Amino acid sequence: MESALDYYAAEALLAWQVELGATEAILDAPVNRYETPKEAPKAKVAAPVAAAQSAPVKQVEVDAVAEARKAVKGVSDLDGLQSALTAFELCELKRGARNLVFADGNPAARVMIIGEAPGRDEDREGKPFVGPAGDLLDRMFGAIDMGRDVPLSKDAIYITNVLPWRPPQNRDPKPAEIAMLRPFLERHVEIVAPDVIVVMGNIACEAVLDRRGITRMRGEWAEAFGKPVMPMFHPAYLLRQPLAKREAWADLLSLKARLEDTA
Ligand code: URA
Repeated sequence: MESALDYYAAEALLAWQVELGATEAILDAPVNRYETPKEAPKAKVAAPVAAAQSAPVKQVEVDAVAEARKAVKGVSDLDGLQSALTAFELCELKRGARNLVFADGNPAARVMIIGEAPGRDEDREGKPFVGPAGDLLDRMFGAIDMGRDVPLSKDAIYITNVLPWRPPQNRDPKPAEIAMLRPFLERHVEIVAPDVIVVMGNIACEAVLDRRGITRMRGEWAEAFGKPVMPMFHPAYLLRQPLAKREAWADLLSLKARLEDTA
């Protein structure tokens, strides 16, 4: 039998959820929609049956992560990586996107910035961070004398995203999408070989560091792909929460200091 404490604790939890806007109970247990799948996601693709000329086409399951790994094997430069992404057909996002958003900035930069995914402006222009969040990102790095159009690698930044295609209505990327595009991101980092990576926001933080909680993680140096990683608030978040710019400024100064210490 339930104790009185369990009853009141449960009632308080329910009241809290109602206060947050919950209007319906859908499942008995919570679902973690951000969990990285234990198994590689499978994609269904059409494959011709046997050798018959006019044979019907059947659906076969494909391990999208394994296919992505195959696609980047042997790729050794940025043009090759962009071509490999252009040819990759297993991510549904590609079908809804206008453009592949590959990267921008100076590939010789010491700092590589990894954002989440293109939004509407980026999808239209085929370049990362060109909308309002991109303007803020440019101003933030401008404040520490760095920028994407800077030829000198020590003051330059190079920018890409976890996903190169815009998710519909800017929804959060799905774990399966992140998992299948991670081999491309990993190869991207290997080719650019930055000294330092900056991950912008929770999604990029999780995709790169496998941990969420940007409010706790920002400003603390971590490591991924064998590189130091600085998690920072996403500029889109800073546009909504201008008071958090104080923390972002501290993180930029920490980045600058690290670059100077290791120059
Ligand atoms: N937000 C991102 O994370 N990336 C972009 O390219 C644009 C907005």
